[in-house]
Amino acid sequence: MRFDIVTIFPGMVAEAAKTGVVGRAIERGLVTVKAHDLRDFTTDRHRVVDDVPYGGGPGMVLKPEPLFRALDAIAAESGRKPLVLLTSPQGTRLTQAVVERLSREPQLVLLCGRYEGVDERVRSRVDEEISIGDYVLSGGELAALVVVDAVARLVPDVVGDEESVAHDSFSRGLLDFPHYTRPAEMSAGGEEQATLKVPDVLMSGHHAEIRRWRKREALLRR
Ligand code: ADE
Repeated sequence: MRFDIVTIFPGMVAEAAKTGVVGRAIERGLVTVKAHDLRDFTTDRHRVVDDVPYGGGPGMVLKPEPLFRALDAIAAESGRKPLVLLTSPQGTRLTQAVVERLSREPQLVLLCGRYEGVDERVRSRVDEEISIGDYVLSGGELAALVVVDAVARLVPDVVGDEESVAHDSFSRGLLDFPHYTRPAEMSAGGEEQATLKVPDVLMSGHHAEIRRWRKREALLRR
């Protein structure tokens, strides 16, 4: 699967994509993440990507032509018409169902919104606007990275143990059950000398009981 991210901070996006599960997926050739510098698609000497809004008012608006040129270049490079997403707080809320749908695409283009907004005409080239939550980020880069992370881990073989994707709490419509690892007992620290213990059932070896306990705990977390 291929992700093309159009941004004024290509370094930030490329660096973040190198880490963790996504980074390993890139190294293994399962996923390609390319950060495109929006300024590379300007034609003026100062590589200007924004301008004042018609009608007045505060803030700057991302100019349409560099974004159009970036989309043309990406489509020409890949030889197909990829799905184009714009990150914006007005978009469709990103849920696991949306992530699953996006993971069936061969290529996603993510346009990172910036400043007070994006020239409205850009929306004529956008298939879907995506919001990662009801709060305003100063730019779409973090939102684009959230989309890449959530979608990439659904690409086959990206997450080592396929089980762990199928068992993801939101895939099952439940919240996750509690997890423990060693040690079986530890001090809570602080003033009182309380002991924090792993529930006995998890160390019992009774697999049916463990399954029941986990189901019950997941339901309790709803
Ligand atoms: N850009 C600014 N805020 C955003 C949000 N909540 N989701 C996606 N893109 C954004």
